[in-house]
Amino acid sequence: MVAVVIPAAGSGSRLGGQPKQLRTLGNAPLLFHTAQVFDHHPQVTNLVIAAAESSMEVYTEILQPLTKPYEVVMGGATRQESVMKGFSHLGASTSAVLIHDAARPFITQQVITRVIESTFTYGAAAAAVAVSDTVRYGENGRFTNTISRDGLYSMQTPQGFRYELLAEALHQGDLSAATDDVELMQHVGHDVCIVEGDPRNIKITTKSDWEWANQMWNAREIHP
Ligand code: CTP
Ligand code: MG
Repeated sequence: MVAVVIPAAGSGSRLGGQPKQLRTLGNAPLLFHTAQVFDHHPQVTNLVIAAAESSMEVYTEILQPLTKPYEVVMGGATRQESVMKGFSHLGASTSAVLIHDAARPFITQQVITRVIESTFTYGAAAAAVAVSDTVRYGENGRFTNTISRDGLYSMQTPQGFRYELLAEALHQGDLSAATDDVELMQHVGHDVCIVEGDPRNIKITTKSDWEWANQMWNAREIHP
């Protein structure tokens, strides 16, 4: 069984307004689009969605058209906590767990397949894209040191883990110190395989991301 945990309990404070996963993109809430890509993937068996307590009912209703079993569970105060709570609802017959941000609706079947395959081969894998811009520190309105972009990656999701490995990492790792599950896995001494992500698989975070997402969505409907 390949389960997906979708942390969707955030408030979307940087974008403002209602939590971004409830905003309508095209014909449905963002959360539905994200969940549907996984629902359509042949290797995915079930979905667990972490929600703010006040949104649990509305999420359950939004996700009704999904064809695979799904469960809406209560998330936590941080993304990591929401992931952990989502994970705790998975059965031990789960062989691999994918974790994917609700705020990344442009995830593709191809990237999901690559993450699942590498997860089964290496135990842990995450989508990322190589950094192509020049990256430089800045301070007081002036640029300072330039960082070599060689070998630098922007992390995306899904991040995939064999069930037992993630259970161990969540149990032993320091949740408050890790920014994501890759770091948690590294804390327990396990390598995480780099999987080629997709530049379009952005995390909708700011107003300009939202505007871009709408343009992408409309273009996709004309040229599906
Ligand atoms: N998330 C979550 N539980 C939290 C915080 C975040 O499940 N306590 C989820 C969000 O719903 C989102 C993903 O983690 O799908 C990535 O987080 P982010 O983009 O930071 O979303 P928000 O926290 O909602 O946005 P912001 O940081 O702007 O408030
Ligand atoms: Mg956040």
